[in-house]
Amino acid sequence: ERTKALLNIEDYHKKAKEKLEKMTYDFYSTGSDDQLTLIDNQAAFRRIKLRPKMLIDVSSHTKQDSTNCQTQILNSTMTIGFPCIIAPTAFHRLVDNENGELATVRAAVAHSTIMCVSTNSSTSMERVAEEHRRQIKENYPHSTSKLWYQLYVLKDRQYTQKLIKRAEKNGYSAILLTVDTSVPGNRECDVHNNFTLPDGIRAENLIDKDNNYVSKSYHIPFDPSLSWKDLDWIRSITSLPLIIKGIIHPDDARQAVRHGVQGVVVSNHGGRQLDTCLSTIDALPDVIKAVSNENRQIDVFVDGGVRRGTDILKAIALGAKAVLIGRPVLWGLAVDGTQGVYNILEILKKEFRLAMMLCGCQTIDDIRKNDLVVT
Ligand code: FNR
Repeated sequence: ERTKALLNIEDYHKKAKEKLEKMTYDFYSTGSDDQLTLIDNQAAFRRIKLRPKMLIDVSSHTKQDSTNCQTQILNSTMTIGFPCIIAPTAFHRLVDNENGELATVRAAVAHSTIMCVSTNSSTSMERVAEEHRRQIKENYPHSTSKLWYQLYVLKDRQYTQKLIKRAEKNGYSAILLTVDTSVPGNRECDVHNNFTLPDGIRAENLIDKDNNYVSKSYHIPFDPSLSWKDLDWIRSITSLPLIIKGIIHPDDARQAVRHGVQGVVVSNHGGRQLDTCLSTIDALPDVIKAVSNENRQIDVFVDGGVRRGTDILKAIALGAKAVLIGRPVLWGLAVDGTQGVYNILEILKKEFRLAMMLCGCQTIDDIRKNDLVVT
């Protein structure tokens, strides 16, 4: 029987489900408690309707090497191929045992996008950075891909500081501080499955000669005392741009601006933390409003439930600079390693371009100006 072509993210999801062991699939796919937020992240995108504009020349999209989807972020210090970034997710070697994060980073380079490398990555941040450099040098000299280091603040602040210094030393371009994980959420599927990491897979960033934080457990020693004053501490020890991930409330966005960060990610951790939390695309407009009333402008990103190019367009129309994708990357990785992640990004880019054209948008700016969404 001929294999059916995998045309969209959901096709990859189904295929990945067939391939993965139940324990691994559940770890990646499920959310906390009753999974209402997990479901609503996607449902909320579907509720938003587009109101396209016609009779606008969009032929520039059809030119070879069209750059219409290119997006500038962080005060034009970075350019990405289209407004879609690879979210930090844990343990890529669970789905691609041989290459894990190295497979993901190759696809990020090919698409000139950013890969956020998790504190919980199953390949050390040094190895990922080395592969990133090698891939640009040997295969994609024009790639504008960058790496961001996703930080969890650990109880051991000295070790936390070391992680930041390692990121600096290895050429990471920003620190992405996750703030929605004071404690891990209640993921009942993992409890049922008695989820443990298989031999040979561990949080490589957290292992060094004198520290052995993680053994069989995937719960790293998060610090529940994390607070706004720690942001000031982090800013005092690094000059890298700081982006905080896991904001839902507009008050927090305001605070973030006042604490001097360069960006926020509106995120509920893909529905894995607080269940019944507001969906991210529904949370975005108030955050955008709060930030735009401040006298310093920062980038607002959003993640959670992005599965189609139209979702990306909706997020941009509502004021986001770019989206991040978590699970879709893992499905690509599970199905076909680097090529799978490459295809996921290619599909979303194609769909996004199509949506732009059908909405009468020549440029990313047009998406914001054209008054395209009805919420
Ligand atoms: C995550 N996420 C996450 N976030 C983070 O800051 N550090 C991490 O290590 C992880 N790990 C992780 C593992 C898995 C299996 C998932 C599904 C998610 C959250 C991630 O960055 C992102 O916020 C969500 O995945 C976005 O939602 P979608 O795109 O998966 O719907």
